[in-house]
Amino acid sequence: MKLCSTLLLLLLVLCLTLFFSEPSLAEEEQEEEAIISRFQQYLRINTSQPSPDYAQAADFIAGQAKSLSLEFQTLEFVKGKPLVLLKWPGSDPSLPSILLNSHTDVVPSETHKWAHPPFSAHLDSSGDIFARGSQDMKCVGLQYLEAIRRLKALGFRPIRPVYLSFVPDEEIGGHDGAEKFAESEAFEKLNVGIVLDEGLPSLDENYRAFYTERCPWWLVIKAIGAPGHGAKLYDNTAMENLLKSIESVRKFRASQFDLVKAGLKTEGEVVSVNMAFLKAGTPSPTGFVMNLQPSEAEAGFDIRIPPTADPESLERRIAEEWAPASRNMTFTFIQKNSVLDKSGKPLLTATDSSNPWWNLLEEAVKKANGKLGKPEIFPASTDARYFRDQGLPAIGFSPMANTPILLHDHNEFLNKAEYLKGIEVYESIIKAYASYTQHARSDGSKDEL
Ligand SMILES: *[C@@H]1O[C@H](CO)[C@@H](O)[C@H](O)[C@H]1NC(C)=O
Ligand SMILES: *[C@@H]1O[C@H](CO)[C@@H](O)[C@H](O)[C@H]1NC(C)=O
Ligand SMILES: [Zn+2]
Repeated sequence: MKLCSTLLLLLLVLCLTLFFSEPSLAEEEQEEEAIISRFQQYLRINTSQPSPDYAQAADFIAGQAKSLSLEFQTLEFVKGKPLVLLKWPGSDPSLPSILLNSHTDVVPSETHKWAHPPFSAHLDSSGDIFARGSQDMKCVGLQYLEAIRRLKALGFRPIRPVYLSFVPDEEIGGHDGAEKFAESEAFEKLNVGIVLDEGLPSLDENYRAFYTERCPWWLVIKAIGAPGHGAKLYDNTAMENLLKSIESVRKFRASQFDLVKAGLKTEGEVVSVNMAFLKAGTPSPTGFVMNLQPSEAEAGFDIRIPPTADPESLERRIAEEWAPASRNMTFTFIQKNSVLDKSGKPLLTATDSSNPWWNLLEEAVKKANGKLGKPEIFPASTDARYFRDQGLPAIGFSPMANTPILLHDHNEFLNKAEYLKGIEVYESIIKAYASYTQHARSDGSKDEL
C-alpha cells in the first residue's frame, strides 16, 4: 500500500512537471509564428540599393533591441547611412568581445521576373519565404537576435560582451559601412576578439564556413597600333595585339576552371578571370566604321585571387603575357585588393587548433545537431575582409543547408524550417562563444601558457 501511494505521488509529480515545463504544441506553434512574422517584417523593408530605406531598417532593429532589453546606439560614419550597434553586456568586460555582423542592404531585383514580389516576404504552402535578402543576409541578422531572445528566456548570462552590428552598404563595397566601422575608434573600444559574418547556403546537409575570401583585382589592358585600311593585312594592329592577349587570358582561365571541374579545387581556391568589357572600334552614325582598323583597343577583366595563391606570379603573368610592353600594351588596375592584412600577414583566419574560435564553432554546430563541411574560401567579397584587415579572426557562416544558392538571383527564398534550425545553431554558437573564458590574443590564437 505504501509503495503504491509513493508511486502514485511520483506519477503525479511527473505529470505536473511535464505539464508545466514543456510548452504545449499550440504555444510552440505560436512562438514559431511570431519568429517568422518578425523575419517577414524585416524582409518587407525595402533596403534595396541604390536607395535603401535605412531609416526604417534602423527603427526596426532598434525596436528589436528594446524588446530584448539590449543596449543600442546608431553610428553614422556617413550621413544617412546608419549602422546600428547592439550590446549584450558580459559579466567579465575585460575579456575580448564577440561581434555578430550583418548587412542591412540588399541588391536590386527585377521585380517582374519574380513569382512573388521581392519585398512581399510571401510564405508559400511548402514553407518557403520569398524575399530579396532572405538568404543575403537579413536571415542571419535576425537569427542572431532570435537566438539571443531564447538564451535570455533560458536565463543564460554571457561572460564575454556580445555585440551585434547591422551595417549599411555591403552590396556596394562596404566603404561607408563596415570599412569605416572597422577602422574607427568606436570599434577599437569594443575590444573585439572574434567576428562572425555571412557565408553561403549549401546544397547538401553540411553547413559551409569560410575562413577567408578571394580578393578582387579589376584589370584593364590596352593595346595601341597603327590604324589602317580595313582591307589591308599588316602586323601589330591594336586589335590583333589585344586578341593575342585575350587568347592567353582564356587559356589561363580554362586551366583554372579545369581544376574546379575535375574536383581538384573548389571555386574559391582558384584564380578566376572573366571579361567584363571590350572596347574598340570607330563609332559611326549607324554603328561602327567598318573599313577601318582602329588604333586603340581595350579589355577589362574581373579577377579574383585567393590569399593562398601567389600574387607575384600573377602580376608577372599580366606584365609578360597579357599586356606585354613588347606588344605595345599597357595595363592598369581599377581596383587591386591586397591579399595581406595591414600588418603584412595573409588575410586568413586560422582553422586549426591555434584558433580556439574555430573549434568552438565546430563543436557548437555539432551540439545543435548540425554538420559543418570543410572550411572554404569565399569566392567573392564580404565585409569580413575589413575585420580580417585589422588582424582579427572572422568566420563567414550563414546556416542554410539543403538550400539552393539564390543570392542576387530571382526568387531568392529560404525555407521556414531551415531558418528556425539556424536559430538553434546560433543559440549554440553564441552560448559557446560568450561562455569561453580563456584569454585569447586578438588574432584569435591562444595565449602561450
Ligand atoms: C525598392 O527601392 C528601390 C530603390 O532603391 C526601388 O527601385 C524599388 O521600386 C522599390 N521596390 C518596391 C517594391 O517598392
Ligand atoms: C609599337 O609601336 C611602335 C610605334 O607606334 C611601332 O613602330 C611598333 O611596330 C609597335 N610594335 C609592336 C610589337 O606592336
Ligand atoms: Zn551579403
